[in-house]
Amino acid sequence: MTPIQKVLINKNTSINPIWIMRQAGRYLPEFRAIRKKNPDFINLCLNEKLSSEITLQPLKRFDLDAAIIFSDILMLPYGLGQKVKFEKNFGPKLGRLNLKKIDNLNEIDFVQKLNPVYKAIKKVSLETNSKNKNTIGFVGAPWTILVYMINQKSPKKNLKKDFFKDEFLINKILIIIEKFLKIHIKNQIQKGANIIQIFDSWAGLLEKKDLLKYVYDPTSNLVNYVKSLGIPVICFPREIKNYKEFCEIVKPDAVNIDYNVDPKDILRDIKIPVQGGLDPKILLTDQQTLKKEASKYLNIFKDHPYIFNLGHGVLPETDPNMFEYLVKTVKNY
Ligand code: CP3
Repeated sequence: MTPIQKVLINKNTSINPIWIMRQAGRYLPEFRAIRKKNPDFINLCLNEKLSSEITLQPLKRFDLDAAIIFSDILMLPYGLGQKVKFEKNFGPKLGRLNLKKIDNLNEIDFVQKLNPVYKAIKKVSLETNSKNKNTIGFVGAPWTILVYMINQKSPKKNLKKDFFKDEFLINKILIIIEKFLKIHIKNQIQKGANIIQIFDSWAGLLEKKDLLKYVYDPTSNLVNYVKSLGIPVICFPREIKNYKEFCEIVKPDAVNIDYNVDPKDILRDIKIPVQGGLDPKILLTDQQTLKKEASKYLNIFKDHPYIFNLGHGVLPETDPNMFEYLVKTVKNY
């Protein structure tokens, strides 16, 4: 068993495995060098040689317990045939949604379009398996994917006023999203992903009355699906107000927490393994502060199954030496 599996499956509390969201990314000069020559982000995700190389870059430098495949949650709308591009200093930009087109899409065409992602997972998993580490596959949660498909860009703080106006369209798209997310998950697992993380980055935008329909129900369906394939599943319902209720209803194998929740409340309220929490901005301070803040999480969760990670992705301006110091601090704890 890998260290992460020991925590997720055996609920081991004596080890602290670590991986970091966005660990393959812009804070690494070797990533920036590849990125510079590949201005089209989607094409880079679809280049299995480069995407597997990028995935493994952080593992060459740091003693991490998992590789997370270099891809994006927006590969799903892309696979469905919606245009997706990433603009510098703007973020993702999606084309208009054509319901007829995505409604007619079949599984074979979708899988063919995303096949380089699955091939990259195969390459990466050969490497991680030999080192007793995990390969993490991932998807966006149905709600977050819906937000991007309808909003056509990051919503920042609020949804547009008429977001829920066309309920027929929303219901229909949710069904399609769920179907293809399952296909995407299945193919990642078949090629060697042995943990799945579900990112619900915009869970925090919903009011309580809408959580059942848009978060709890569709995410539960995915969690049950991953479990039925015999693979552990970690959920990250970012900035959801009630992590306890989420865990009780959705029942993932572990939950990643954001940096706005008090980890002591989480320890009190949540029985399943916990992951993450540290504010990525702490990596921009100094070693002493970083050690103090990382130790806070390690101390609070010392008798609870805990996987070290952040409360959101590592920031591009992070010094790789600080990243290394964090990994060493966790490993030597
Ligand atoms: O964690 C990893 O190392 C694996 C790769 C990964 C990426 N995106 C690569 C990426 C993962 C797991 C994601 C998930 C993702 N993508 C989420 C969920 C997590 C979160 O951040 O809330 C979301 C919402 C997206 C959508 C997305 N992709 C946005 C909003 C952006 C632009 C933001 C930015 O920093 O410019 C991306 C682009 C993106 N995805 C980059 C990377 C490395 C930066 C691309 C670049 O090099 O310009």
